[in-house]
Amino acid sequence: MKNIRPLTGNADSKKVYIETYGCQMNVNDSEVILSILQDDGYVLTDNMGEADLILANTCSIRDNAEQRVWGRIEQFRLQKNRRPGVLVGIVGCMAERLKDGLLDSGAVDIVAGPDSYRSLPELLAAVTPDSPQMNVTLSHEETYGDITPVRMDRNGVSAYISIMRGCNNVCSYCIVPYTRGVERSRDPQTILREAEELFANGYREVSLLGQNVDSYLWKGPEGQTDFATLLAMVAQVSPELRVRFSTSHPKDISDEVIYTMAGYDNICRHIHLPVQSGSNAMLEKMRRKYTREWYLERVEKIRSVMPDCALTTDIIAGFCGETRQDHLDTLSLMEEVRFDYAFMFQYSERPGTLAARKYPDDVPPEVKTARLNEIIALQNRHSLESNEKDVGKTFRVLVEGVSKRNPGELYGRTSGNKVCVFPAQGHKAGDFVEVKVLSCTSATLISECVSGQKIVDLWQQEQ
Ligand code: 5AD
Ligand code: SF4
Repeated sequence: MKNIRPLTGNADSKKVYIETYGCQMNVNDSEVILSILQDDGYVLTDNMGEADLILANTCSIRDNAEQRVWGRIEQFRLQKNRRPGVLVGIVGCMAERLKDGLLDSGAVDIVAGPDSYRSLPELLAAVTPDSPQMNVTLSHEETYGDITPVRMDRNGVSAYISIMRGCNNVCSYCIVPYTRGVERSRDPQTILREAEELFANGYREVSLLGQNVDSYLWKGPEGQTDFATLLAMVAQVSPELRVRFSTSHPKDISDEVIYTMAGYDNICRHIHLPVQSGSNAMLEKMRRKYTREWYLERVEKIRSVMPDCALTTDIIAGFCGETRQDHLDTLSLMEEVRFDYAFMFQYSERPGTLAARKYPDDVPPEVKTARLNEIIALQNRHSLESNEKDVGKTFRVLVEGVSKRNPGELYGRTSGNKVCVFPAQGHKAGDFVEVKVLSCTSATLISECVSGQKIVDLWQQEQ
């Protein structure tokens, strides 16, 4: 395991085990949590059975995400029964949403929301079997900007950098504004420093994360920094550092961001642009603040500037009042855009959201499932077609590691975020390699390396 900062533990250190659910943002938050706990004398363990502290960093976006964690809490309870003294903490979005509802389970000692991670050492110092501890205060300022996350990734090649927290959009279906609070941007200098440090430590790709990166805005004494400016600043760290970002909002993605991407080869040609629905009636009810026509215009703009830019999306099937015609509008939008990849979900009502308060969740579950299946089938066809178009082409791929299926093969990603596998030829994680695509599945480009064996390796073989 590669860490930017060395693990500081010794034989007496307390051990923390962390499970992460939900989005990339949560993966990065777990790295911030580990940094805070490391300073408090903890070391990370992969083995729940030897942990003094078990943490689950949770997600509330759909009911099934929460159900999974409730199942895990029962496993954690078994650990507590077997090994008295073990502490269990539930942190993140579910902690923020359910608050003391989690303590009622009797298996949870600590509850901490997304803005309370700095208080974890205090909560841990105060906790006793009879007095569980909770901090779910949301903040208008917290960005953890000064904390260097302890990387938990296994490849040491690509890392997440959180550039903002919270969300000011009120999409009617979404719990995030309630669990993560108001939007705030992080000081660009701390972002830049983190990117430079990662590059110096061998990382070759950073993903800038925010719920809505297009509304990133930092106001400092030296003036304002918007997302396009930040993107250019990070791209200038090194031409050998790839830059990705997520998530873009169709109502906010600006021409400046599109032109900035086009201006730098190392900003990856990929935009994740969640559409949610192809029906104007649904978009209005979802409070997305754009129309189908606006969305299609943004796609056209992106493709006119960067014809090779990959586009991915999120789609919700069966939102409140969705008719067969609304659903067909989603399918026809998918046909028009032909996304390279999509994350597809059934609508799941979240208590307290605008939709839960205002609109009945009236699409029957079997209809939701049938519509989702149609959406998935269409997307699978489009993903396969998109990959088939790449057969015969060459791509610059950043090697991430050895393929899980075949130890003789490496895998990496193209600028458009497609996974390539190819026979290893002396390359290693962190190398950039030219590959030619020989064939594909809907998920993978099967390739060969055309940049040749690394000269140093040929030389070593000859010795
Ligand atoms: N039900 C189903 N999917 C949802 N998403 C957000 N809220 C819900 C919900 N209540 C999806 C959206 C979002 C992605 C992260 O999760 O598509 O873009
Ligand atoms: Fe991430 Fe949203 Fe899940 Fe929170 S609710 S972990 S912000 S996906």
